[in-house]
Amino acid sequence: MSKNKVVIVGSTNVDKFINVERFPKPGETLHIDQAQQEFGGGKGANQAIAAGRLEAETTFITKVGKEGNADFIIDDFKEASINTDYILTSENEETGQAFITVTDEGQNTILVYGGANMTLNAEDVNHGEQAIREADFVVAQLEIPIEAIEQAFKIAKAHGVTTILNPAPAIDLPDSLLSLTDIIIPNETEAERLSGISIKNEADMQQTGDYFFERGISTVLITLGEQGTYFATQHESHIVPAYQVKAIDTTAAGDTFIGAFVSRLERDLSNLEDAIRFANQASSLTVQRKGAQASIPTYKEVTAQYQ
Ligand code: ATP
Ligand code: RIB
Repeated sequence: MSKNKVVIVGSTNVDKFINVERFPKPGETLHIDQAQQEFGGGKGANQAIAAGRLEAETTFITKVGKEGNADFIIDDFKEASINTDYILTSENEETGQAFITVTDEGQNTILVYGGANMTLNAEDVNHGEQAIREADFVVAQLEIPIEAIEQAFKIAKAHGVTTILNPAPAIDLPDSLLSLTDIIIPNETEAERLSGISIKNEADMQQTGDYFFERGISTVLITLGEQGTYFATQHESHIVPAYQVKAIDTTAAGDTFIGAFVSRLERDLSNLEDAIRFANQASSLTVQRKGAQASIPTYKEVTAQYQ
């Protein structure tokens, strides 16, 4: 099978991690055993690293600050064989930052400062037009302006390239973006935020699928954490179960899922369930390691474990 050509349009963040026994209550002070650690992060960058490590031919369109905080992340992009021609630099804004707290139980909270990410505009995306036209799939998330995503998706749609939206973090979205989206991949919270349907069982998932079908989206995946992934097309729908592992930090589980899914998916979507299974496998390795990009596995690691 030839490698998928994937363009990711999205954010790059420096992730600042703190490990805590439990989340503090409002007003409470807690001691921690380890100083803050820094890792490469950002939903776009994580998905690009995942796609690259899982052997898709990956191009990443993003914007970082000129202060050089993202230099170590760009080195990792190169190590994952990602095309870095469209990593742009903001004159005025710093590289994005995320402040992440992880508990002993593996739960996290994340605060994101957008910085340079929020200056990525339609004109910037136009620089990557040729890469988008030649891609099999274009993927975006919501840590950059909607204007940039819509431009990438418009170019993609004009050239028959499949568009994939990961609506994370959860915000309200214009119908104009949903109507440019072929495949949507929210987690449960994000799905609920967009559809207004609270997900308690598979019937709720089906109703959520219908909500997105009515907005012109043809394929709906909802990631369900340790339960796995629900998918729905016009022809079939069910849950592909996750793998039972001990999760120590789920940061970037969703990003690994998307990078893995898009690296495996056939252009005609004929192997949808197989691609979801592979993505469940890859993200089950991510949740067993700490950090975002640091925890994303390579193709060899996934196949050594599961195939
Ligand atoms: P995050 O925001 O933590 O990166 P997310 O909320 O976007 O993640 P999830 O639905 O939590 O996404 O997880 C994505 C995929 O990762 C799941 O569909 C599943 O395959 C895998 N996964 C997540 N948590 C676990 C777990 N505890 N055990 C096994 N697999 C998991
Ligand atoms: O999805 C995980 C990512 O969300 C982290 O790497 C952090 O940067 C936030 O954007």
